[in-house]
Amino acid sequence: MTRHLLTIDELSDDDLTELYALARAPFDDELLKGQGVALVFERPSLRTRASSATAVAELGGFATFFSDDEIGLDRRESAEDVARTLSEMYAIAALRLRRHDVFARMRAATNERLALINLLSSDAHPTQALADVLTLADEFTNGNVNELEGLRVAYVGDATNVTRSLAVALTRLGVHVRVGAPAGYQLKEDGAENPWTFARRGSLELFDNAVEAVDGVDAIYTDAWVSMGFEDEVAQRRLDLSSFRVDDALVAHAATHAVVLHCLPAHRGDEISDNVLDSPRSRVWRQVFHRRSAMRAALRWIKEDA
Ligand code: CP
Repeated sequence: MTRHLLTIDELSDDDLTELYALARAPFDDELLKGQGVALVFERPSLRTRASSATAVAELGGFATFFSDDEIGLDRRESAEDVARTLSEMYAIAALRLRRHDVFARMRAATNERLALINLLSSDAHPTQALADVLTLADEFTNGNVNELEGLRVAYVGDATNVTRSLAVALTRLGVHVRVGAPAGYQLKEDGAENPWTFARRGSLELFDNAVEAVDGVDAIYTDAWVSMGFEDEVAQRRLDLSSFRVDDALVAHAATHAVVLHCLPAHRGDEISDNVLDSPRSRVWRQVFHRRSAMRAALRWIKEDA
């Protein structure tokens, strides 16, 4: 059966164990030899595009990039016809999509012949979450993701698709996750990648106050206040989220050993200060490093079952 990596939620425990192991294991650079992987981006990207292209090349394959301007998903032609076309040329397509439900349409249109990887959708950012877990394991458990149980991680700011995948990935490893966000920006239970699915394995607590959310935690995570698609709300979001900035004053409430994460791109002075982003606590470049580990793992995991 064709494997897809669309959310952390829908993966089995065995799938995740395999993915984390593959991310760190030596790799066969012939695995994708002569094979193409389609990279479709409806929205801009630096890290995801770079890590996808390099991971494909590391495994001996070649990546073909398609922008929204070229494909015009559901404008130039239907998502179904895009998927059918790609499936005649490629075995794997990795996509950054505006709407998560398009993945299901593509799966149905191709009778599951095209393996799909979610490179960020309206609901989830699973390859980012894999990279984040690997980063925390490097920091706290000598690389062993299965020993993260009991860790305390706070996400503060606008709770996004990144937050959803992060919360699922961490809680199912027994991590205590706290999310600090003002009213209207908090996690919701709707859509794919339900943050509460595995909450009882660790815990998931919601706060409307950033200081309370980060109190004593081992790691603080934040993301842009103005995600892609919300550009016309800049002024209102800056106003609503101003007390959720990750700066020296906020970080002082975390544990003395606490580290800071951000999936990037960062908006210095908005959700995170220069001081914190460039401080010894920052692990953002380790997260970037693991984007490639995570993407390589995703490709290997799909190929191993093909
Ligand atoms: N974190 C992340 O997905 O970065 P890009 O949007 O640059 O790919």
